[in-house]
Amino acid sequence: MVCLGNICRSPLAEGILTSKLDVDNVMVDSAGTGHWHIGNPPDPRSIAIAKKHGVDISQQRGRQFSAIDFATFDEIYVMDNSNLENVLSLATSNADRAKVSLILDHIFPDENVDVPDPYYGGNLGFDNVYQMLDKACEQIALKLKF
Ligand code: 4NP
Repeated sequence: MVCLGNICRSPLAEGILTSKLDVDNVMVDSAGTGHWHIGNPPDPRSIAIAKKHGVDISQQRGRQFSAIDFATFDEIYVMDNSNLENVLSLATSNADRAKVSLILDHIFPDENVDVPDPYYGGNLGFDNVYQMLDKACEQIALKLKF
């Protein structure tokens, strides 16, 4: 799960997908394309909205996406088109590129929809983001189980 800061959207996506999968069989992680929040916990608003839905993301810590992630992970879900561009700029093969998808493509195929960055908005933005990510992760979990 990849966003810009790895403190708002992708930690939520990591927590939500983890809650829908058997973690003995799948490794879910998140990262940011930016470096500003390396080592930091998620934004308190993300922690709060996740907690409201029974998901604990408070122990996550920020890290930066790197080219090594292409070797580590089979699937890379990005939150918006800017993340997509940044992640694809680190890909070195068609196999790498094939791993990357916009997360909302999994509920709105080919519509190219971004998860809006809620960082500069209010709590309503986090609620909205949670709902979108929950629906997308539901579809992703179904795909990963089969
Ligand atoms: P995120 O939100 O990409 O969903 O984690 C952001 C958090 C922090 C910043 C940008 C986006 N920032 O510029 O610090």
